[in-house]
Amino acid sequence: MHTSPRTFALAGPGRAGSSVALALLGAGWTATGVTGRSVDATSTRAAVARLGCPPVAAADLGRGAHLVVIATPDAAITEVAAAIAPDLEPGALVIHCSGARGLDALGPVAETRPDVQVGALHPLQTFAASDPARLVGAWAAVAGPAEVTELALTLGLRPFVVPDDRRSTYHAAAVVASNHVVALLGQVARIADSAGVPVEAFWPLVDATVANVEARGASGALTGPVARGDHATVAAHLDALPGAERDAYRAMALAALALAGRDDPALLAVLDATRGEVLA
Ligand SMILES: NC(=O)c1ccc[n+]([C@@H]2O[C@H](COP(=O)([O-])OP(=O)(O)OC[C@H]3O[C@@H](n4cnc5c(N)ncnc54)[C@H](OP(=O)(O)O)[C@@H]3O)[C@@H](O)[C@H]2O)c1
Repeated sequence: MHTSPRTFALAGPGRAGSSVALALLGAGWTATGVTGRSVDATSTRAAVARLGCPPVAAADLGRGAHLVVIATPDAAITEVAAAIAPDLEPGALVIHCSGARGLDALGPVAETRPDVQVGALHPLQTFAASDPARLVGAWAAVAGPAEVTELALTLGLRPFVVPDDRRSTYHAAAVVASNHVVALLGQVARIADSAGVPVEAFWPLVDATVANVEARGASGALTGPVARGDHATVAAHLDALPGAERDAYRAMALAALALAGRDDPALLAVLDATRGEVLA
């Protein structure tokens, strides 16, 4: 990869792509072009304004860029790679930001452009909106040449290598850590609301729980009725909860029981007792 001047282009100007692009600008890189779903798409226009570069067709994206960042939905990565391949600069680096996809997603570049390097850089972070500051101190799964690791370090990320055959497993862990936690907190908000308690009251509990898991590991952090074997309390919860909330509660109670590492047929019977009601 060239070192000076450092230029990059972005395909997929959404939450992750814009965050990485803004971080690159902050690190002294210059943007040469943005390819979005369409020139008029809101995300394309926003990125063009923030990055100070023109919208370009995918076929032209590689022109003049030392680095091309692909941060489209996973399903579009290979199609974008095929479109940009012919006009990439010799010596350029093309990366995607997917956690689940391996380097095979960039096959159309790797197979047709031996003079170009391919890599993957998945920030292990969540971007609900574009926010380059979230990259600093986060970890990142990298694959490809040493330049990808160097790039991650430039962005303030902590790189680690995940081989292609483990990426789906790795990404499943990331999804549980972020998206499933959000889904559970959505359930907290709904149940708190039905109890007439403000959801804000639960945030210190959530913060302390995460801190305990970090400090003691998941099994060392487990408290509550499943850990204690308080079957009647669990039964009362299931009785009180709206039917639509019970499946998730039951699934997580089973996960907690597995974490506790205890054989508890009586608790399993409590969890099983209401199952028919929910399915009915
Ligand atoms: N968000 C995160 O927290 C996060 C974190 C780490 C990694 N990632 C990875 O980053 C990638 C993008 O995720 P995201 O959450 O940033 O998605 P996103 O916010 O939906 O952004 C996707 C962007 O790609 C555009 N796009 C869709 N199809 C395209 C195509 N064929 N060509 C060019 N642009 C296209 C979208 O345009 P429109 O806006 O017009 O639809 C949008 O600007 C994924 O691989 C994901 O795994 C995301």
